[in-house]
Amino acid sequence: MKNRVMIAPSILSADFAAMGNAVEKLEKCGADLIHCDIMDGTFVPRITFGSQMVESVKRHTALPLDVHLMVVNPADKVKDFVEAGADYITVHAEACGDKLKDTLAYIRSFGVKCGAVISPDTPFAKAESVLEYCDMFLIMSVYPGLGGQKFIERTLPKAEQAKERIVRDGLKCLVEIDGGITVDNARRVADAGVDVLVAGNTVFKSEDMAKTIMQLRGGKCEV
Ligand code: DX5
Ligand code: ZN
Repeated sequence: MKNRVMIAPSILSADFAAMGNAVEKLEKCGADLIHCDIMDGTFVPRITFGSQMVESVKRHTALPLDVHLMVVNPADKVKDFVEAGADYITVHAEACGDKLKDTLAYIRSFGVKCGAVISPDTPFAKAESVLEYCDMFLIMSVYPGLGGQKFIERTLPKAEQAKERIVRDGLKCLVEIDGGITVDNARRVADAGVDVLVAGNTVFKSEDMAKTIMQLRGGKCEV
């Protein structure tokens, strides 16, 4: 029996001036993780928030914090986010280059779960070799740097490839997809072997957050 898909709303789409309430509401409405999009204005043009915001968010929820570093030299930032209370820290293969494996090991050395991220134009093969060192493998289904973009269909086969490899090799690694997830495509994406769906706009634009989270989970809501 396939485990139910987990929903990780991205607080990129929240009202930053009322982040504590947003996070408490997400937990009340059934989110499984809180996805924190860290952007440094260099790896991507936009700047969002840093480890202090993550620290504040941590005080408002018991949910695991899934910290997505869209930053240059991510290894230099890891310790800050560990101390802020991150439960998962994912780093871009494009930002780490040949230091990806070391960066993943460094995150794990703090007892925090680690993950590699690939952007839409990066082939799965580029990060396939580090899957065994990952607790999470994040496939960007939009270009990093903005919420509210359209799902890029050609990224979905990478999720299938990743899941195939994880099952074949008996690895313990969650497949996460990030960007453009809606109640219309969530089921199809989950059926491709994705374990965690990141959704920002769809969740925060919803009139009924709990209902939308349940719909993203495929209508089933095993409470
Ligand atoms: C984009 C971020 C995503 C994005 C998801 O750089 O990594 O997490 O916020 O938001 P939606 O669901 O609005 O595409
Ligand atoms: Zn993200």
